[in-house]
Amino acid sequence: MAENLTGKVAVVFGTRPEIIKLAPVLLALGADGHPVFTGQHYDAELTDAVFRSCGLPVTAPALTGVGGGTRAQQVATMVDQLSQLFTRSRPRAVVVQGDTNTTNAGAQAGHYLGIPVVHVEAGLRSHDRAMPEETNRLLVSALADVHCAATPENARNLLDGAVPAEAVFVTGNPIVEAVANLLPDEAEGARLLAAHGLPERFVLATVHRPENTDDPARLGALLDGLGRLGSPVALPLHPRTRKALATWGTAVPAAVQVLPPVDYRTFLAFTRSASLLVSDSGGLQEEVTVLKKPLVVVRTSTERPESVAAGFSVLSEPEHLVEHAERMSSPQVLARLAATPSPYGDGLASQRIATLARGGALTPQTA
Ligand code: UD1
Ligand code: UDP
Repeated sequence: MAENLTGKVAVVFGTRPEIIKLAPVLLALGADGHPVFTGQHYDAELTDAVFRSCGLPVTAPALTGVGGGTRAQQVATMVDQLSQLFTRSRPRAVVVQGDTNTTNAGAQAGHYLGIPVVHVEAGLRSHDRAMPEETNRLLVSALADVHCAATPENARNLLDGAVPAEAVFVTGNPIVEAVANLLPDEAEGARLLAAHGLPERFVLATVHRPENTDDPARLGALLDGLGRLGSPVALPLHPRTRKALATWGTAVPAAVQVLPPVDYRTFLAFTRSASLLVSDSGGLQEEVTVLKKPLVVVRTSTERPESVAAGFSVLSEPEHLVEHAERMSSPQVLARLAATPSPYGDGLASQRIATLARGGALTPQTA
């Protein structure tokens, strides 16, 4: 399947958030697009149900030996195999999304072969080089030919980094249409919550960033904070975090209900029903702006300041989780969020990205 790329737009993805954000782009590309799944995420719990819930067939990896390696192994293996694939069967463009090792490798493979590289969600910057994602973003910005920025602020970061203005387009982020199209209705949402044994009022949490999982003191403080929120907490657990909890012997408080990762539509239903979110996820900082929910981001930096500026997200150290949670859950905050538009687009990003990936024209960012 991955062999028939000639003349197509190769859409390269390898992790859960890339599936979620590139599914609308693949659907917009129709017969012009072709999925290339690298297998960076290799456990079915992170991929298969997410593919299905995003309206894509479960896609087998086009590459071998990628998942679970070190950064260097992952990137080297993917660049090598993607270059071979694109040489055998040359796509007209390569689309990558975000800031993962897959994004980095897809951009390198396309660039080295002289194939136009289109970067979705371009121009995010945390200015924190300790994050693997930040160096991936910087590298991809140096390699890409078409930069699809979600917001004017992201576009400014690119222009400040000497990316030519004629290559920068403010498209919005396809997460907006992903949420709008895939959110289950209230009845199905209630059924999904009951099927997972969630109570009427709960906090929804996710944790997977190395800054939290790889530091036992920080992970312990985060779990402790979740246990002191005064509300049941649902925690669908990334396998990286499941392994870290076992390795460090971190105690999970009684109020915290650990679940396996859930499919995307189920997660959206959980998000809509949660009273508050606590997470270190990138995508969640965007989704809460569409679903009008408050989010405590347990991180030291963010590449998504728009979500903070609009009032949906607040950064917190694990030790201050409870006070931030109280403040973000006040009726005044909730009323304000309900009336605040999402800074991440109008729901047409994937159409604009598909136009650009096909080589079509849009107005570049000149601000
Ligand atoms: C990756 C991305 C991160 C993104 C996240 C989405 C990079 C550098 N990081 O992080 O930006 O936010 O995906 O979830 O690309 N693991 C499993 N099963 C899997 C996948 C991972 O058990 O299917 C465990 C393994 O122990 C693995 C570790 O998680 O070594 C890290 O996996 P990796 O794909 O390198 O990064 P993520 O932490 O998933
Ligand atoms: N998500 C999901 N199921 C889960 C947890 C998260 O579908 O059990 C979705 C969530 O809605 C978001 C994406 O996965 O769109 C975020 O993925 P993750 O936090 O792994 O990556 P990040 O966004 O931080 O790169």
